Amino acid sequence: MCYNFPMPMRIPFNRPVADLIEKRFSCRSFDGQGLESEVLEALEKFPAGLELPFQNRLRFGIIDKEKVRAENLFSAGSYGMIKGVRFYLGALVKKNAPRPWEDIGFALEAAVLYATALELGSCWIGGVFDRRRFSRALGMGEDEQLPAVVAVGRPADRRSLRDRLVRWSARGSLRKSPAELFFESDWATPQADDKSPPWAPVLNCVRLAPSASNKQPWRVIHKDGAFHFFLSRDKAYGALMPFADLQRIDMGIAMCHFQLAATEQGLAGQWAAAEPQIPNTPGNFEYVASYLTKQ
Ligand SMILES: Cc1cc2nc3c(=O)[nH]c(=O)nc-3n(C[C@H](O)[C@H](O)[C@H](O)COP(=O)(O)O)c2cc1C
Repeated sequence: MCYNFPMPMRIPFNRPVADLIEKRFSCRSFDGQGLESEVLEALEKFPAGLELPFQNRLRFGIIDKEKVRAENLFSAGSYGMIKGVRFYLGALVKKNAPRPWEDIGFALEAAVLYATALELGSCWIGGVFDRRRFSRALGMGEDEQLPAVVAVGRPADRRSLRDRLVRWSARGSLRKSPAELFFESDWATPQADDKSPPWAPVLNCVRLAPSASNKQPWRVIHKDGAFHFFLSRDKAYGALMPFADLQRIDMGIAMCHFQLAATEQGLAGQWAAAEPQIPNTPGNFEYVASYLTKQ
């Protein structure tokens, strides 16, 4: 199938996007305070203005846990995993949407970087959260679903013990080496930094992306002037999460980092459906999309 991918856009953050990507981390200790209404409105509006790779129309909304609580004492939000969080940014998508996961990943991650630029902390939540009450708070329609939310707020001065434990168990600060993630022409040849100097920092922005359980499923192969994105699927993981394809969301996040970093560096290109034939592609690899460069 061929998709009509829009041209990459440049988002005017107040700081280089590579700096925001370096600065971002999954914040699991917030100060518990409110946020100004202008900030909340800006967070809700920002992703709605983006052109997404698969051109889904998503709906975004802020969930205020205090309001959900006022209506129902039993709502636990994100079940205590995230301390002091009051607000969540949710993305609703039509149930029959084509390729919804990548677009949700792309849009909410752009919002995460926007939040980082506003000095806010954030944490993706795709696993356990109060889906039923959060969906109701967003006025979700019968034909919509709420695959993931992002906790947002001002970080607490000190990280909670639980925060440190979760981060340690997910090995949150660790990333695979570039040689495990990025390849040149075939899967046996890791991409050497010195082979593609302008692209190495862009790929590093992919490497620093957040991913569900820090599995880093993105594999990128450079061949004939294109960067082809594959998902290294963890089948057991998918079975645990019936509500959303979190690993496809991870791919959308990686596409977001790649596109924003490339565009900011003036490296022109365009997304396309152009699956390459690469011998010995592992059976668990799923093709996602290609970035055709114009150099
Ligand atoms: C799609 C997605 C879903 C996630 N779901 C959760 C979650 O339910 N709970 C949580 O504490 N962290 C969640 N995370 C955060 C990851 O654990 C985190 O990004 C990863 O460990 C890397 O750490 P870092 O974000 O600090 O770089 C999720 C991340 C992504 C991208």
